[in-house]
Amino acid sequence: MDSGGKQVTLQLMLAVGAAVIGSLQFGYNTGVINAPQKIIEEFYNKTWIARYNEPIPDTTLTSLWSLSVAIFSVGGIFGSFSVGLFVNRLGRKNSMLIANVLAFISAALMGFSKLAGSFEMLIIGRLVVGLYSGLSTGFVPMYVGEIAPTALRGALGTLHQLGIVIGILMAQVFGLESILGSSSLWPVLLGFTVIPAVVQCALLPFCPESPRFLLINKNEENKAKSVLKKLRGVTDVSADMQEMKEESRQMMREKKVTILELFRSPLYRQPIFIAIMLQLSQQLSGINAVFYYSTRIFEKAGVSQPVYATIGAGVVNTAFTVVSLFVVERAGRRSLHLIGLLGMAGSAILMTIAMALLEKYNEMSYVSIVAIFSFVAFFEIGPGPIPWFIVAELFSQGPRPSAFAVAGFSNWSANFIVGMCFQYVEKQCGPYVFVIFTVLLLVFFVFTYFKVPETKGRTFDEISAGFRQTSGGAAEKYSPEEMNSLGADSPL
Ligand SMILES: *[C@@H]1O[C@H](CO)[C@@H](O)[C@H](O)[C@H]1NC(C)=O
Repeated sequence: MDSGGKQVTLQLMLAVGAAVIGSLQFGYNTGVINAPQKIIEEFYNKTWIARYNEPIPDTTLTSLWSLSVAIFSVGGIFGSFSVGLFVNRLGRKNSMLIANVLAFISAALMGFSKLAGSFEMLIIGRLVVGLYSGLSTGFVPMYVGEIAPTALRGALGTLHQLGIVIGILMAQVFGLESILGSSSLWPVLLGFTVIPAVVQCALLPFCPESPRFLLINKNEENKAKSVLKKLRGVTDVSADMQEMKEESRQMMREKKVTILELFRSPLYRQPIFIAIMLQLSQQLSGINAVFYYSTRIFEKAGVSQPVYATIGAGVVNTAFTVVSLFVVERAGRRSLHLIGLLGMAGSAILMTIAMALLEKYNEMSYVSIVAIFSFVAFFEIGPGPIPWFIVAELFSQGPRPSAFAVAGFSNWSANFIVGMCFQYVEKQCGPYVFVIFTVLLLVFFVFTYFKVPETKGRTFDEISAGFRQTSGGAAEKYSPEEMNSLGADSPL
């Protein structure tokens, strides 16, 4: 029956490979501004001196750099909101292809900013590549999910996550001063985005359009069939066709829920609140303070080779992403999220102690490396992957697209806040900056403990039944099962 259903054909590998270049780009541009911060800041200073005949004021430099880092997320907000405009009209493949225009524009803006003596170009380039990244985080999982055989959907879906962390790691390695992170080569480091874009543009024309798009959006059954045959490497694809038709029939049956209805309807109000809080817990955990600013953080913590410590964090990040790929499918989402948050809070406390005692004990710089590594490791166990899992599992087909839009918006907005504010807060709080993340992490821990139900292995009906009980507020009526869904008996 399922002969070939699990087969990884050349055509499938090519298509998935071409798509996850988008994930790689997202990761690369998340990590790329970390290592060369000082060197690019020098360029800002020199440009300022050339224009105004005076060194750049400290506060101006902080603002400009924070903006250069964080404007990426503003692009992300708009990009993630525009995914729907593209995929249903142009198709998945062509959307990915066209998005590369943004990658080319941003690479040119950032790569030539030094030559043109304009940090404005760099900042706009970051905005544009953020736009590309926001689009990619929608395009890639959708395309991969739609071309993968059912049995491989989970496994191939994780390649998006893996592409992101490998992209971050690549950027950190390339950012070494001896590679591309030097005062003469940093424009190449930022302009490097053009290479994956060229590769993706060369590969995508040989990749198939999503069969799901062909069948359901275009109603081209024969084309969908021939694409499926190539992807699966078999001649009989009737089972796949049947499944897609059944899925689309189910989607028709369930009315699409708008974003406004999501907040108005008592049925969705609590799940959407949880979805938003989980996204905030991911970003306000401080993880991007590490991915954007770790080199600076390590330097303040007295680490003698901060860039190597940053690369170490990238390696830990990649390793634990792989670990979590094996754990997440099996373990309870809620428990993993709780463990991750608590572990991150512990790491943040350790980081604070290390930075506070640095003046007395030089060895504290090693403690801070351990603290940041474990901070990143716990992130990938819980707050990294879990919020997206739970959003997908809290909402059925009808409200899901709107729920994901709201979740994406919350995620990118919080990402922006952290990227923009971190340096200011750090200047105010000094070594105690991680205390803020500790407090936030503990707040999210308590929230998750009391409000987030376990979603693994439960149907939407069961989950929403749990919510109805909560909003009813009749505590004495809870069965043990429902108590469990409210998180009353955490197995931590
Ligand atoms: C900017 O450059 C000038 C001259 O090289 C230097 O004195 C000053 O410290 C620099 N300012 C910053 C914030 O790096």
